[in-house]
Amino acid sequence: MMKITTCAILLSSIVTLSGCSITNGFDKEKNENHAQHTAQKHTKNNKSDNRSTSNTQGEKPSIKGTTKVGPDGKTIVTNPDDILVVANKKRNLPSDYAPKDLVIPKIPWPFKENIEKKHLRKEAAAAVEKLFHKAKADGMDLYGQSGYRSYARQVSIFAFNSKQKGEEKANQVSAIPGQSEHQTGLALDVTCPEVNFDLNEQFGETKEGKWLKQNAADFGFIIRYPKGKEKITGYQYEPWHIRYVGVKVAKEIAAKNETLEEYFGLN
Ligand code: DAL
Ligand code: ZN
Repeated sequence: MMKITTCAILLSSIVTLSGCSITNGFDKEKNENHAQHTAQKHTKNNKSDNRSTSNTQGEKPSIKGTTKVGPDGKTIVTNPDDILVVANKKRNLPSDYAPKDLVIPKIPWPFKENIEKKHLRKEAAAAVEKLFHKAKADGMDLYGQSGYRSYARQVSIFAFNSKQKGEEKANQVSAIPGQSEHQTGLALDVTCPEVNFDLNEQFGETKEGKWLKQNAADFGFIIRYPKGKEKITGYQYEPWHIRYVGVKVAKEIAAKNETLEEYFGLN
């Protein structure tokens, strides 16, 4: 096992920039009512014609026609409530988007407070409970570290990281507000005691990290920023960041070793 001190020295910069670290000052935020409040404000963009389409015959879903150009020229997704929504450096979530069905999954967390980042969308939360149940049965010591993140919180995190490292470097590990999957409530950062509950590349080498890679798809999750796909995703390898897409799509993506961008032919 890697010593905690060595781990911290080698990897603190990565984790700090990711905006996910337990040492990050923003994580002390205790705004458990914020998620529900912002969720009530969002009433647009949930029409069924803006959703990804698929059928029961096993056809590949499509996200064709799920963007529009915003007043500032940015590409905005029109299906933020879709389980298959793609948020990335080319596809922004509306700044006023917050999911309406955020709940706290019953999984282990390394902190007690019921704050914003413990939330996930209902379907993703149910799936992650099953994933963690199986992990425990298989002898894994998995913890959730960071789930839903509001647009406003991403503004603070990205500003903090940019100040530390400059915008370009910050954006290799931390999303510009509107581009973070955490805003969808479908992404969760996962960790374990062996890496001192940190979010770092070493997590991918732990038995928990390896188990997660092998088993996530069975519960509808993908490793969203895989090793070797940095040019496609636009982000560094994040073995800790899982994204809910449903079992069928997750299994297809895992089997082909693809990214969400490759799956939808976006690059
Ligand atoms: N660390 C990922 C890319 C995020 O900030 O959403
Ligand atoms: Zn993440």
